[in-house]
Amino acid sequence: MIVVFVVAMAENGVIGRNGQLPWRMPTDLKQFRKLTLGKPVIMGRKTYQSIGKPLDGRDNIVVTRQKDFAAPGVHVADTVAGAVALGGELAARRGVDEVAVIGGGDVFRAALPLTRRVYLTLVRGRPDGDIVLDAFDPKVWREAAREPMQQSAGDQFPAEFIVLDRQS
Ligand SMILES: NC(=O)c1ccc[n+]([C@@H]2O[C@H](COP(=O)([O-])OP(=O)(O)OC[C@H]3O[C@@H](n4cnc5c(N)ncnc54)[C@H](OP(=O)(O)O)[C@@H]3O)[C@@H](O)[C@H]2O)c1
Repeated sequence: MIVVFVVAMAENGVIGRNGQLPWRMPTDLKQFRKLTLGKPVIMGRKTYQSIGKPLDGRDNIVVTRQKDFAAPGVHVADTVAGAVALGGELAARRGVDEVAVIGGGDVFRAALPLTRRVYLTLVRGRPDGDIVLDAFDPKVWREAAREPMQQSAGDQFPAEFIVLDRQS
């Protein structure tokens, strides 16, 4: 089992704005669904609340420091390491080989050392935002694949789907 990120990031590192995604990109949401379906997904409490419900077809693990946090249909973990351990057990039970970290900023930063692969949607724009990630260091991350997103009329920006693997 490996831990992966599934993240959409703009050229300026922006991934979020006012608790939401900073863009409308239905084609990327389809890609997100395709990449995560069947796999355990790990998310921060704020991302969970911005989605508002568990993602269907996936074991949802919400990370929070609140001892009394509970929500229907989700697992709760109080550390990212705990979430990854639980994700590993659930992945084994489902027979899948990836546990997907799906954000937001706090959880991506905490999970980075545990992560072996990044499914990156590189959004070709520089939108305003308040949640920003550092660029993936090319000395650490090797590009394994890149293809242009087939932009539809509803997609606000062009984008590329990139796979980065941690160099061993
Ligand atoms: N572009 C993308 O791919 C993408 C993906 C996901 C989210 N987003 C965007 O990112 C933004 C949300 O990100 P965010 O950084 O504000 O919040 P977040 O990472 O979703 O959630 C932060 C919360 O998670 C809990 N948490 C975080 N790290 C923890 C740790 N190490 N141990 C235990 N609990 C931990 C804490 O919950 P408590 O406060 O409850 O203790 C913390 O307040 C939104 O704008 C969202 O739309 C973008």
